[in-house]
Amino acid sequence: MATTTFFITTPIYYVNDLPHIGHIFTTTAADTLARYHRLAGEEVRFLSGTDEHGQNIERAARREGITPLELADRVVSRYDELKETFGFSYDDFVRTTEERHERGVIEMIRRIDAAGDFYVATHEGWYCSPCETFYTEKELLPGKRCPVHVELGVEWKSEQNVFFRLSRYQQPLLDWYAAHPEAVRPSSRANEMRSFVEAGLRDLSVSRANLEWGIRFPGHAGQTVYVWLDALTNYVSALGLGSEPSPLYRRFWAEGTMRMHMIGKDILRFHAVYWPAFLMSAGLPLPTTVWAHGWWQRDGRKVSKSAGNIVRPDELVARFGADSLRYFLLREMVFGQDASFSDEAFVDRYNSDLAKDLGNTVKRVVTLSRTAFGGRTPFQTCTQNPLIAAAGQATAGYRKAMAELAFQQALKSLWKLLAETNQYLVSREPWNLIKSEGASDRLARILWNGLEAIRIVATGLLPFMPRVAPGILRAVAAPVPGSLDALAWGGTLCDAPLPEPTTIFPLIDKEAFMADVPLPAPPAVAVPASALPAGDAGDAGDPKAAPPPAASVPPASAAAAAAAVPATISIDRFMESELRVATIRAAEPVAKSKKLLKLTVDLGGESRTVVAGIALVYRPEELVGRQVVVVANLEPAKLMGVESHGMVLAASVDGAPVLLHPAAPVPDGTRVG
Ligand code: ME8
Ligand code: MG
Repeated sequence: MATTTFFITTPIYYVNDLPHIGHIFTTTAADTLARYHRLAGEEVRFLSGTDEHGQNIERAARREGITPLELADRVVSRYDELKETFGFSYDDFVRTTEERHERGVIEMIRRIDAAGDFYVATHEGWYCSPCETFYTEKELLPGKRCPVHVELGVEWKSEQNVFFRLSRYQQPLLDWYAAHPEAVRPSSRANEMRSFVEAGLRDLSVSRANLEWGIRFPGHAGQTVYVWLDALTNYVSALGLGSEPSPLYRRFWAEGTMRMHMIGKDILRFHAVYWPAFLMSAGLPLPTTVWAHGWWQRDGRKVSKSAGNIVRPDELVARFGADSLRYFLLREMVFGQDASFSDEAFVDRYNSDLAKDLGNTVKRVVTLSRTAFGGRTPFQTCTQNPLIAAAGQATAGYRKAMAELAFQQALKSLWKLLAETNQYLVSREPWNLIKSEGASDRLARILWNGLEAIRIVATGLLPFMPRVAPGILRAVAAPVPGSLDALAWGGTLCDAPLPEPTTIFPLIDKEAFMADVPLPAPPAVAVPASALPAGDAGDAGDPKAAPPPAASVPPASAAAAAAAVPATISIDRFMESELRVATIRAAEPVAKSKKLLKLTVDLGGESRTVVAGIALVYRPEELVGRQVVVVANLEPAKLMGVESHGMVLAASVDGAPVLLHPAAPVPDGTRVG
């Protein structure tokens, strides 16, 4: 049988910003998966890169008084450093300013043109220039503000552009989703994309006039290729599309087994709608999976340049090592959902999981074995003991989780084996047996089992911690394996020299550490648009990354709202309303209703269905993971056939809802008032 191929990509990152924890996260996840698939014996190709064209890059460079390419070179060198620091194992790094990429874009355009899918028309609409995107009236926030750059107004823009007949691909896309349940993951995201496409697709403008920094649109003088058509093509230009002969393109794309794009949910629509439509038009195979993970948040907002709450990893890496950060990122987040980043959570997990559970277990077992057996592993193996079954279960759980990209579950499975190993040791008390029995058969078996369990855990950690895991294997005198077969019980060598153990993860004094940590960023306040930086192109397509700050409600309507309150009420009466914080776990449109969304909210262990009239302003896909305030003791009511148990609080600005949320994340179910 031919070898299975696995092509995995990260987004190509914008160069108008330095890499932060979000970018590192996606590359870490893709790297972990690439390493796992290599260990599984597949032929892997792993691609990352940078997105270097467009107005935002042009502007950012101008602000610094350098050329766009100089800016790009500078940021790319940061990505090179990250590759070193984090041990990223990508095989190729594509830059959209490379000639090979331009040839790919020109080939893509030639193919789409041959299919008759381009035409020229006047393009008019509300335009946000930091986003480089047109928005419909419906998508805008009250006051004609950009749904991404919530404080910025949009402008009316009219120009001649080349259009792509996206509308033609509505049904083919729906058929593709239906035939390939794995095409868009997780499945909640597939549902969102299906609803989006079902609602109708408008043709897409794929060129820009008056934009210098980009690829000239062949056959249309004065037009530059739209950044997303340019950028998405990297996935095939890097493999050699447009640069015949292209054996990599044939091997990993045209004839490849798996073609997976890993992205954040902010750019899902570009990858799950536009990109497959471009490929269909060009007559090229589609990706097998677009996997959209959630966002790292800090202080309740997405970590991003525009939110100003960036986490750059330098200090954490210097202090704890890059592998500890890799571990934290994949252990803390349920892959597919949002998670919040805090230094406290980091140091807690580092101390408990790495310093104690992993580090101490390794040191303890190695030290005991060295003491009892003259600096060596025990002289005999063990084929009957409770850890064999525990290891079998752990590795089966680990493999299943990795196949589903459930990184957190995979790590939990390994940690369960560590816990069982510790229990086993506590129940056998080898530290007492050393004194009472010396280097007995029994002691040999017990310690061999301990080393063997550690060897299996370290093998499972190889994709996650590419520097630390081999170190642990060496610490237990095991070779670093090239295959997942090493997960099977029985690999620990007998009577092999054990190096003197070192402390892999020194325990950190949390209080001292926290005292050094800068205070959390203050909650968002309204800032006049003119005071903001030109914006973060990186957020194109993630409308409402942060809700508009409450302070931006026009005073007139606030006064009107106050005037509508009939009389004062007592505090007791107010306290009859049970207001609680909840996290939205799922959101979907209510059939036949333009305004209503059906939300599934988590009130801290209790899941509720709440129907909210917010669909004109909020799209389901951007609500999931957000915290809101719910009136929890409201009588249930049926709205358009859906039973609603509670109400979500929103301010109403000229009839448009603006959701209320806590200024910092709080536990679900927390009472408000
Ligand atoms: O969008 N949490 O580039 P970009 C998790 N050039 N992941 C995050 C994150 C966060 N807070 N912030 C960023 C672009 N990311 C385009 C892509 S692809 C053909 C073109 C990660 O620099 C996540 O993967 O804005 C997100 O999709 C990506 O960085 C956006 O990077
Ligand atoms: Mg972005």
